[in-house]
Amino acid sequence: TWTPENIIDEQVARIRAQVGDKEIICALSGGVDSAVAAALVHKAVGDQLTCVFVDHGLLRAGEAEQVEKDYVAATGIKLKVVDAADRFLGALDGVTDPEDKRKIIGREFIRVFEAAAREVAAAGDVEFLVQGTLYPDVVESGGGTGTANIKSHHNVGGLPDDLQFSLVEPLRTLFKDEVRTLGLQLGLPEVMVWRHPFPGPGLAIRIIGAVSRDRLEVLRVADLIAREELAAAGLERGVWQFPVVLLADVRSVGVQGDGRTYGHPVVLRPVSSEDAMTADWSRLPYDVVARISTRITNEVPEVNRVVLDVTSKPPGTIEWE
Ligand code: XMP
Repeated sequence: TWTPENIIDEQVARIRAQVGDKEIICALSGGVDSAVAAALVHKAVGDQLTCVFVDHGLLRAGEAEQVEKDYVAATGIKLKVVDAADRFLGALDGVTDPEDKRKIIGREFIRVFEAAAREVAAAGDVEFLVQGTLYPDVVESGGGTGTANIKSHHNVGGLPDDLQFSLVEPLRTLFKDEVRTLGLQLGLPEVMVWRHPFPGPGLAIRIIGAVSRDRLEVLRVADLIAREELAAAGLERGVWQFPVVLLADVRSVGVQGDGRTYGHPVVLRPVSSEDAMTADWSRLPYDVVARISTRITNEVPEVNRVVLDVTSKPPGTIEWE
């Protein structure tokens, strides 16, 4: 029978048998899949596991801290943090094309992860790499084993030949809701377990226009307000994702106090979905939308207009880029 305890015991035994006394590494993204996969591996082989968290500076407010502090406190995992924000922002400077942003972020991620993996490998006999592949990913890719297969840039399949690892994929038979149950059972922070799916390239593809530190900060505050109000209304689990998008190259005229403003709009993009292949715009209660709008325009001086995206997928995509 399916109980979280059974699954955990079974996976722990499997991981021990596969890994033996070798070292193993894992790239944490801040997302639930890699967090649960790593926690399982840690339960099985303890400090033979080293996690690497590449902070690309494109996460939402509080998320890097969640990984570095709360997750480590909850699991006792050995974590190597690489603060690579300057490097990513430098590489993204002036770039506006969505696919160029993705390519640059993917390339930089591989380079930074590779350097970190080399350091870990220099200290021990690293043979394995953890990946948080879920059952739907396995099905989508035709069920092959042993090859890296994650859609995002966190796919570390682009590593050079002298740095190849065998994969350990403890979530291969599981669905997302099962992974969440395991995460709770393993004592992970609830905010991580219930985190909405979030794209690997992060906020870079939610800034329409070039990415900069200032623009990221504006978007982070607006995004945090939207998340806070959604949670306060008890609707977090009722939406699939809730991108907040900054139209950084658009300005519109507004009025605030006695003065004219000429600021940027943000778009609220709450969607409901089963699997992100299709989606519908979420009919959030208008009073929740109103509170988000009032707070953003009051608390974020650069933003003077809030608009609601009422497009389904298709024809729209969930993200704006
Ligand atoms: P779209 O925008 O295509 O998104 O409807 C479908 C799902 O994929 C996520 N997404 C990404 N995830 N790297 C990722 O890891 C990406 O480049 C990327 N682009 C979109 C999106 O958040 C949604 O869940």
